[in-house]
Amino acid sequence: MAFIVKKKISGKEYYYLQKSERVGDKVKSKVVAYLGKDLEEAKLKAEKIKQMEKKEKSPEQEKVKKEIASEPTKITIEELANFCKRKGFIYPSGEIYGGLGGFWDYGHLGSELVNNLKKEWHKFHIQQRNDIVAIDGSIITNPKVWEASGHVASFVDIAVECKKCHHKSKVDKHELDSTKCDKCGGDFENKGEFNPMFTTQVGPIKEDSTLAYLRPETAQLIFANFKLVQENARLQLPFGIAQIGKAFRNEISPREFLFRSREFEQMEIEYFIEPNQSCPYIDEIKDTHILIYDENKQKENKEPELMDIYEAYKSGIIKTDWHAYWIAKEFEWFTRLGANPNNFRIRQHTKDEKSHYAIDTWDLEYNFPMGWRELQGFANRGDFDLKQHQEHSKSSMEITTIEGKKVLPHVVCEPSLGVGRALIVFLLESYHENKEKQTTILRLNPKLSPVKAAVFPIIKKPEYIDMAQDILIDLRSEFNCNYDKSGSIGRRYARNDEIGTPYCITIDEESPKNQDVTIRDRDTTSQIRIKTKDLKDTLRKLINQEIKFEEAGKII
Ligand code: GAP
Repeated sequence: MAFIVKKKISGKEYYYLQKSERVGDKVKSKVVAYLGKDLEEAKLKAEKIKQMEKKEKSPEQEKVKKEIASEPTKITIEELANFCKRKGFIYPSGEIYGGLGGFWDYGHLGSELVNNLKKEWHKFHIQQRNDIVAIDGSIITNPKVWEASGHVASFVDIAVECKKCHHKSKVDKHELDSTKCDKCGGDFENKGEFNPMFTTQVGPIKEDSTLAYLRPETAQLIFANFKLVQENARLQLPFGIAQIGKAFRNEISPREFLFRSREFEQMEIEYFIEPNQSCPYIDEIKDTHILIYDENKQKENKEPELMDIYEAYKSGIIKTDWHAYWIAKEFEWFTRLGANPNNFRIRQHTKDEKSHYAIDTWDLEYNFPMGWRELQGFANRGDFDLKQHQEHSKSSMEITTIEGKKVLPHVVCEPSLGVGRALIVFLLESYHENKEKQTTILRLNPKLSPVKAAVFPIIKKPEYIDMAQDILIDLRSEFNCNYDKSGSIGRRYARNDEIGTPYCITIDEESPKNQDVTIRDRDTTSQIRIKTKDLKDTLRKLINQEIKFEEAGKII
């Protein structure tokens, strides 16, 4: 039951809405809304609240609420690849000629989505911090970089072919005898050592040209430029240098859509510290819980355990504070952009699987449709790389600390993430199919959405079309927008829902007269009416999640 109650405060009268409900054999009352100082005004407000509550409880609203709360629709990686191709996100590269294994082209929506993803990564890791700068190195560099880094000598796998089904794959040297074919369980035949670096010639005449490599990771350009960047950006330890860019690996068996490709992008940070320097930010990560699968648990065939990352560091499961800190921060980046924390776990590399440069490595794994797989790596590279480049280039990589000490910095943690794998995660997390209506909604975080808003004139008369065009020009100075004047309004909403457009703006019968428009929210299908002059500001706040949709305008 709801009542209007009057309260006297400092001699003045105020009206409130009070609700009473029976709990056991007692009746409990609480004030649920302030209604103003005037009784008539209070009655009107109370009535409005009643109407809104009724509407919220309507079967249609309840259904929408249920749908929003539901898990994304489970699809296979092939179904995701098909969806991406159909809608203009990602295509097999050069498909008219049959494509090429492990190479992909981004379509008109995919290129927007991937740019937004990289922008968000850059914002979180560089723009919003004091201690990290970014560089953009070249894809082909002096081949001595790859000799120094150990990639020429040690970045080697064994190529294998199944004796039964002839499936080709690669295995680490130590796995050769123990690994069976993942397709049919047959025995593998050793086809010899294989270096996945792509080679090319630099120079026009083959005999005079230099053999060079397409970079297999972005990390080495950070190490090779380390001294210049540190001096130019006047960086003091601890600090990071980041890079987003292409990497190439001639994978023997590229598969599972973008998951294992031959050309891909990485977003990497090399975080440099003075040897044994502790992490001043460690307290920030307290209360970050994730499934943890350390080396011991794997050896003993036990299940991963849900733990606080900070506690895992304190109890020695995660060896360094920097490792714990960066794992927690990267996990936070994914969940802040809408990923479900239950789909993540961290797994420590066993002794045999570590890369040639790594002291200790953890992977952030994701529960992909094909099972738990590496999403992002966190290697403790120690001083391996700077030492190697110092020796091979004969230039000192030491820097002077504030206290005047000369040190060779260590990289205790290198967060290294593949853009394609991150993209798959956000697409899987947002993909919702409505079987009944045969529609798809891509519930992407608005910051990632390729198109931020779609503008629809409802009536095909110059007055409405001109107004829509003016709004479009204004919004396009800041956001990527769609304009759609064809088909029913329902069709237009559906076309935008399936590509993840968070907001649809309609210019309706009342718009020219009142200079206002409606905005429809993709996830709730609720609509608000707002003045045209406030539209751009409101959209910005909505996309940046600074306001809730219901607070952005008058609900209609
Ligand atoms: N600098 C360290 C490094 O490159 P990595 O574990 O080989 O380490 C880091 O790669 C990340 O790059 C992986 O966690 C994955 O997200 C991505 N990645 C690696 N190989 C890939 C491939 N063939 N296709 C797509 N992404 C890949």
